[in-house]
Amino acid sequence: MSSQSQTASLWGYRPASAPLTQQQTSQVENERANPERTFLAERRSLLGFGGFYPSVLRSLFVSSDEIKNKFRFTDFDKQNAMLSRSLELAAGATSGDPESLREISARAETHDRYHLNVEPRLYDIWLETIIETARDYDANWSEVVEASRRSILGHVVQHMVRKY
Ligand code: HEM
Repeated sequence: MSSQSQTASLWGYRPASAPLTQQQTSQVENERANPERTFLAERRSLLGFGGFYPSVLRSLFVSSDEIKNKFRFTDFDKQNAMLSRSLELAAGATSGDPESLREISARAETHDRYHLNVEPRLYDIWLETIIETARDYDANWSEVVEASRRSILGHVVQHMVRKY
């Protein structure tokens, strides 16, 4: 067994090709009908796994020296807090919370070319790393969950990029 599939089975990962039970099929139908609720529930389920954020950060820094460099003055606790807060904000914005929307705009400014200078292409790496790590960590992973995650994080990224 490859180490990737070992990690996957450890977290209850179900390969996309495995047939769905009837209960799973109706869960998928519900999720299709309500991607926002799916994102909120799945974010909570990811937070149950303590290693998720450190794992995302590790992959981010391995994928990009530029991203690693941006965080050179930020300690580990703050890096984790930043990641956790960014997913919280995505969830908040999804449920229409005006405070979250305001804070995302404020973060877009601190991340723009005049401040942290997070270039648009770095956000793509950020998004893909979260999606890929979640695939390994999320016991409830499904294609539908992944699609809703990608769409919701994609909106946040688009907002940050527009204000770059
Ligand atoms: C590759 C993409 C990104 C990079 C390189 C990056 C980089 C950083 C850095 C260097 C900090 C500063 C930490 C400090 O003050 O020491 C930070 C803070 C933060 N970032 Fe990002 N960021 C990225 C994407 C995002 C995204 C998509 C969001 C979503 C809203 C976000 C939300 C935040 C928040 C909430 C903080 C904490 C601000 C605070 O309270 O001090 N970041 N980020």
